Amino acid sequence: MYSALSFLIFFMFSSRVESLNDPSVIIIGAGAAGISAATRLHQNGIRNVTVLEAGSRIGGRIHSVKVGESYIDLGAQWCHGEKNNVVYDMVKNLNLLKSDKISPRLYHSKLKLIDKKFDEKFNEVFEDNYFKNLIDNEGNLGDLLIERFKKTIPTVWQSEHERSLAKDCVEMYQKLVLCNDGAFSWFNLSAKNDYEISDGDQELGWNGLGFKTILDILMQNSSISGNIILNKEVSQIIWNGPNLHSEVVVNCVDGTTYTADHVITTVSLGVLKDRHISLFKPHLSTEKVLALETLGIDAVSSIFLYYPNKWWNESFEGVSFVWSEDEIEKTAEAFPIGPTKGGRSWITAIVYILPVLRSPNILAAWYVGEFVPEIESSSNDTIIKGITYTLNLFLGQDIPRPEKIIRHKWYSDPHFRGSYSFETVESRNLGTSQAAILSQPISREDGKLAVLFAGEATNPIRYATVHGAIETGFREADRIVNLYNN
Ligand SMILES: Cc1cc2nc3c(=O)[nH]c(=O)nc-3n(C[C@H](O)[C@H](O)[C@H](O)COP(=O)(O)OP(=O)(O)OC[C@H]3O[C@@H](n4cnc5c(N)ncnc54)[C@H](O)[C@@H]3O)c2cc1C
Ligand SMILES: *[C@@H]1O[C@H](CO)[C@@H](O)[C@H](O)[C@H]1NC(C)=O
Ligand SMILES: *[C@@H]1O[C@H](CO)[C@@H](O)[C@H](O)[C@H]1NC(C)=O
Ligand SMILES: *[C@@H]1O[C@H](CO)[C@@H](O)[C@H](O)[C@H]1NC(C)=O
Ligand SMILES: *[C@@H]1O[C@H](CO)[C@@H](O)[C@H](O)[C@H]1NC(C)=O
Ligand SMILES: *[C@@H]1O[C@H](CO)[C@@H](O)[C@H](O)[C@H]1NC(C)=O
Repeated sequence: MYSALSFLIFFMFSSRVESLNDPSVIIIGAGAAGISAATRLHQNGIRNVTVLEAGSRIGGRIHSVKVGESYIDLGAQWCHGEKNNVVYDMVKNLNLLKSDKISPRLYHSKLKLIDKKFDEKFNEVFEDNYFKNLIDNEGNLGDLLIERFKKTIPTVWQSEHERSLAKDCVEMYQKLVLCNDGAFSWFNLSAKNDYEISDGDQELGWNGLGFKTILDILMQNSSISGNIILNKEVSQIIWNGPNLHSEVVVNCVDGTTYTADHVITTVSLGVLKDRHISLFKPHLSTEKVLALETLGIDAVSSIFLYYPNKWWNESFEGVSFVWSEDEIEKTAEAFPIGPTKGGRSWITAIVYILPVLRSPNILAAWYVGEFVPEIESSSNDTIIKGITYTLNLFLGQDIPRPEKIIRHKWYSDPHFRGSYSFETVESRNLGTSQAAILSQPISREDGKLAVLFAGEATNPIRYATVHGAIETGFREADRIVNLYNN
């Protein structure tokens, strides 16, 4: 009896000391945030790290796929900016990034190719109205930009013809905004937000190597690949239960259980919205739930089109689709294949079709808005027919069908449930940064740090990006490192 008790006391004491020096950490998700957290911990001597990843590959919303000689990116594609950008900093001396600014030409459903002068003016107006002077505006972005654009039209375009064309362009203008912000509707986007653009080139491409290159670079100095367990979907995080060593218990869908001193979750905002009630035991605080419910994540998507015999040449810059006001409302009739809403067909959700750096036989079609979920559930054949119909109509020539399409259905994929986060009117109206609230770690009753939150949506100023996601991985790893260094 006496010896058993002393053994228990000794055991508790020694394991407590051990864990003070050698903490164990579980990271949920092997995307940009998870990988960066794991490498940062490793480089700071914290070696008992396990990364649990639901999918069958690392990278998360970085998804580079080799087609022919080059990689294409089904998720993140460009490094946005150079200043205050950890991605840029890590690779700037390696000669990997290449400016990949594509300016697709405007094509109109009736007028076909639009004059380059109008095109350039339109881009200028778009950038002035959208990227500048948002500082003092409350309310939603859609109302603000519609009003600004209406005011701008008569000052910029003189002829009746151009003004009417400019009006048709509002639709395109909206789609460009949704492409950037990832919402289904620009009326859901807050006009004012905390996002900080990293200065410099906004479209730095990976020159056929894929965005996954950044994961290779992150992992090159620390052998963490042995710490990553794939196909391991977490179903529950018991963070404040009775536990001998005050550890967090993580249960997985396959029935396995892991424990650790600390857990860093990096699952997307979409996954948190879907599953936070079953995922966290006990439940998250009402403040945190409010943050994850009011912040937004919808989806934008790209579909890659493979043409064994290319029909474009080196001077092809891509096509942006501007519908005439009367035609757009009749597209459901003119092209009745696939989803429709009111008079509109899903093909009106296509923003542009672009060439892809280093992939000579591939074009990328981008689409946005409320049609995204239904487009994801549409068949390959419907997509191929719609894209081919649209190209034929706008280019006025006989474009062949792509042989196949390659896509990742980000919105319906249960491990993502969307593309990237944004500030909504609702989250903004709460007055404090909801991303900052989402990023706050939670502790056990005994004060021990239990669950830490990383991932793109927890970055108050650089959300929606890979560099923002990596920053949050570093941030949460440092939080743990600092705990043991002091
Ligand atoms: C189409 C598209 C285009 C984009 N374009 C760009 C761009 O050009 N430039 C840019 O900077 N950013 C871009 N982004 C955004 C960028 O990809 C993301 O911000 C970033 O990759 C997010 O990283 P993360 O680690 O926060 O999340 P994720 O990459 O989502 O990682 C989370 C991981 O958690 C896993 N997971 C989820 N649930 C569970 C569970 N229950 N158990 C275990 N694991 C789980 C997921 O499988 C995933 O691997 C784009 C995103 C998309 C979708
Ligand atoms: C987003 O906007 C759509 C269309 O304006 C609206 O129906 C929907 O309720 C909005 N969603 C949220 C969460 O505000
Ligand atoms: C890896 O180590 C090299 C050499 O010490 C260093 O220059 C580089 O910055 C490191 N990379 C990362 C991502 O830490
Ligand atoms: C890592 O931590 C876990 C959970 O605390 C523990 O069970 C395991 O023995 C540790 N592994 C090593 C190698 O220390
Ligand atoms: C490329 O194609 C366009 C459109 O078909 C054509 O006008 C142009 O002359 C071609 N350029 C070259 C270099 O072949
Ligand atoms: C759709 O295309 C993808 C990629 O080519 C392929 O993997 C998938 O099987 C296709 N789906 C159907 C139903 O044919």
